[in-house]
Amino acid sequence: MTSIQELYGELWAEGSALELELERSLEPRGTEWLFETFAALGPKRGELVVDVGSRDAGHAIRLVREHELHAIALDPVPLHVERARRAVAEAGLEDAVEIVEAGIEAMPLADDLADWIWCRDVLVHVDQARGFAECARILRPGGRMLAYVTLATELLEPREAERLFEALAIVPESVDSAGLENRAAAAGLKLVSSTRLEGEWRERMIEDGTWDPGDDLLRLSRLRRREGELIERHGEAHVAARAAGKLWGVYQLLGKLCPAVYLWERGA
Ligand SMILES: C[S@@+](CC[C@H](N)C(=O)[O-])C[C@H]1O[C@@H](n2cnc3c(N)ncnc32)[C@H](O)[C@@H]1O
Repeated sequence: MTSIQELYGELWAEGSALELELERSLEPRGTEWLFETFAALGPKRGELVVDVGSRDAGHAIRLVREHELHAIALDPVPLHVERARRAVAEAGLEDAVEIVEAGIEAMPLADDLADWIWCRDVLVHVDQARGFAECARILRPGGRMLAYVTLATELLEPREAERLFEALAIVPESVDSAGLENRAAAAGLKLVSSTRLEGEWRERMIEDGTWDPGDDLLRLSRLRRREGELIERHGEAHVAARAAGKLWGVYQLLGKLCPAVYLWERGA
């Protein structure tokens, strides 16, 4: 155990070389890196990308514009589908982006259809065995799937995990890296690369000033101090989802959650 003498006289004394090291940026990769990674794979004009779990189709629209692709933006939530339709219409891209209301587990799309699957921040919510089987089915042989997914680490304590998963509609098995990799392989998706980003995106956001974890922690503290009253007025699920959403990025910084990027290829 650290002694008081050691702690105050040495470890926490001014002029710590360790503290100076921590002040230096590690030049973390940000969210743009996923688009750069996709671009580096060489998508060709006219190819089809399916954005699985596309929310408002913002990414599908961007990929179509940047690479002259066609896209299918697929999401099971009617509110997202409605927003996606509006965004595609506003972008004047109705001929290039089709909107489909469906989940990854049963995609109403033909076999061997897609050159690319883009799947960002979705796989934690889904039945991966069925989802990967569907992805392998709709990809043409040699087609590739780029996915960003958040994994749990051994630092996420069981009670923290339980609360987080329940509040955010997360399938517990889906955040296990070995399970995810096995399910993808069983579906016939060959692993090309995997990159554990750890806290990089969050560090980048803080360094760029686009996210302040202090804001989330401040709101979390306010929520905790009035939890009972807030639950009465807004309902337990709403309060739990807000709290878990604010913990998400903080847990990534603490290493309890580890974002990762996978690239798979459908075999011949
Ligand atoms: C965290 S959001 C990510 C949205 C978008 N891909 C992005 O990166 O901003 C998760 C998305 O997954 C969608 N989703 C949830 N369950 C799904 C499923 N079974 N199949 C496909 N998408 C699903 C949600 O509706 C939501 O749009």
